[in-house]
Amino acid sequence: MEGLVCVNDFEKEAMRKLGRSAREYYSSGADDEITVKENVNSYSRILIRPRMLRNVSTRDLSTTVMGKKVAVPLGISPTALQKLAHEDGECGTAKAAETIGGIMIVAFFTTSSYEEVALAAPNARKWFQFFVQKDRSITEGVIRRAEMAGFEAMVLTLDCQYVGKRRASARNPIEFPQHLNLPNDTGDANGELNMSKLHDSMDYGVTWEAIPWLKRISKLPLVLKGVQTVEDAELAVELGVDGLIVSNHGGRQIDTTPATIDILPSIVRAVGHRIEVYIDGGIRRGTDVFKAIALGAKMVFVGRPVIWGLTVSGEKGAHRVLEILRDELDLTMALSGVRDVKGITSDFVCTKAGLSK
Ligand code: FNR
Repeated sequence: MEGLVCVNDFEKEAMRKLGRSAREYYSSGADDEITVKENVNSYSRILIRPRMLRNVSTRDLSTTVMGKKVAVPLGISPTALQKLAHEDGECGTAKAAETIGGIMIVAFFTTSSYEEVALAAPNARKWFQFFVQKDRSITEGVIRRAEMAGFEAMVLTLDCQYVGKRRASARNPIEFPQHLNLPNDTGDANGELNMSKLHDSMDYGVTWEAIPWLKRISKLPLVLKGVQTVEDAELAVELGVDGLIVSNHGGRQIDTTPATIDILPSIVRAVGHRIEVYIDGGIRRGTDVFKAIALGAKMVFVGRPVIWGLTVSGEKGAHRVLEILRDELDLTMALSGVRDVKGITSDFVCTKAGLSK
């Protein structure tokens, strides 16, 4: 890992290390990958307005999420099949989240079960991600297992009932090593990984009616992942949802949806006083984390960067990537004249057009 000093360095090294199938699976997006690029590029169009002479001799990066403390406003988005990157898999990334004091969201299609991940990182703050399946008793069973394993919130992914058209996978279907399985997918427990089977059990007809059902069957806070419009954010709030992740699935589902950082301000304006709003997609630098918080995100999550760290050096690599983002955020705060996370306000960012106002 020596010599890898930023997230992009880890990406380059991971691209070198991964076999073609896993490389394409992790990095690809839908269609022409316009949204994949926009997620990243939009951060470069937001400018920072640093303030001077404000005593930044100490900084505090901690904040609260769902009423509980995190050491950093930085968490891990749910990404599937992490053992394709490194044998440490989801247990390794959860331990990395534990060490850094962030939040780990464990995906449904993992190569280690919710229970294994919970045991591996007992002191990490852990949320679990799931889908609504045709057979609601299966979904309910998944929730009960996660409750028993000590997960503290449930994250329903809204944008992936069908899988987006990723051309790389269309050309070369992903190859799974024989020894991996999908232990959370109870419909296919212990079965061999098989991409065509992955989404068979999804409820393609699911509607907002599922939200009151979920609120009824579990006391865990409910977070919706994949909200991209003010309309859906408002519906979520009306139905008593506890948090939103503004996300376009890292550009993997519908191409030409806007960068998440460009939608964030309108969603925060509409519902941010009633519900916590988080964001993922395209975050690669501490300045990106700073900008997302300035524009109203309570917490940011990263997907691919952690996969790249995991690929390069297992749990240690995943941890190093989170450390780099944390240290870059800390330095951005110091250089911008901000001592704590609540001090990162919209006054610290603007667009080029806004500079002349
Ligand atoms: C994902 N994502 C995802 N989301 C989810 O809710 N369940 C899942 O199983 C997966 N799986 C998955 C696999 C891979 C390889 C990637 C890259 C992404 C989406 C993920 O949670 C997140 O929204 C994006 O990865 C965020 O964008 P960045 O940080 O990768 O740019």
